Amino acid sequence: FQEPEAHVYEQVLNGPWELNKYNLILTTEKLGHGQFGMVKKGYVKKDRDNRINVAVKSLKSTASEKDKTDFINELNILKKVGHHPNVVCLVGACHIQGTMYVAMEYAKNGDLRSYLRKIRKGKFHIYDNTSSITPVQNSVLLKFALDVASGLNHLVEKQIIHRDVAARNVLLDDNLIAKVADFGLSKHDDTYIKTSNTRVPVRWLAPESLFNATYTTQSDVWSFGILLWEIFSLGGTPYHGLETQQMCNLLKQGFRLRRPKKCEPAMYAMMLQCWNERPMSRPQFSELCLRLQRMVEDSQ
Ligand code: ADE
Repeated sequence: FQEPEAHVYEQVLNGPWELNKYNLILTTEKLGHGQFGMVKKGYVKKDRDNRINVAVKSLKSTASEKDKTDFINELNILKKVGHHPNVVCLVGACHIQGTMYVAMEYAKNGDLRSYLRKIRKGKFHIYDNTSSITPVQNSVLLKFALDVASGLNHLVEKQIIHRDVAARNVLLDDNLIAKVADFGLSKHDDTYIKTSNTRVPVRWLAPESLFNATYTTQSDVWSFGILLWEIFSLGGTPYHGLETQQMCNLLKQGFRLRRPKKCEPAMYAMMLQCWNERPMSRPQFSELCLRLQRMVEDSQ
């Protein structure tokens, strides 16, 4: 049996990230679906009685050339990203009978958007020390924002533009630490000009990305502002009820998303700064981290 793509896989798999295929155990438990099909739960054996949970993405040798390129792009970005507590890290990759498997850190509490919507429905009540039920504290939401900003600041240091910053692409681990995930659209670049006609997350895009197909760290800052809005609206849909064309026209005229009900003025001010028309006038992620850190401390 000849594995058709073995030579391609070897180019990307050789080295420290290569997993011994006998150490990867796949389950049938589905964690969601990405561009390339199902993400499934798995385990990676570390030693005789140690195994860690992983989320496994797979790519069959019958996939389209475009999917293969995108899959390998994401794997290469993950290798560059390295380790950070607020990024879903690569565990390793291998190929088994023509299918490539990429094992990522497992995040038990799923994606941030779904979690926020569960909060909105009153699924979680946090007991304070008087044992009366209080709604989810502002400090929990601020901590999510700080975690994501820290993860994105790490990407800046690695010169990676994420290009798909949104609550659906943030995952929560068992300690509710938020981690940036989904590097399918990411680029290792200072400025990326999109040339092909592929689908884009329009409601999260900065004007220069929407109208000039230009992506930089500062356009990630705009998207982070939309993510802040998602957090403080507890999983709301940005520009809900507007068609793409209407949204574009309003943005051009200078309109912005309104302040969510439970959002404090200082937080809304931060969103508006992220949505500055001029990319260079938006705050940097390093500054956002410092300010969010202070807001978290003040809220506790
Ligand atoms: N769904 C997609 N990726 C995941 C991950 N890393 N952990 C848990 N669920 C996921």
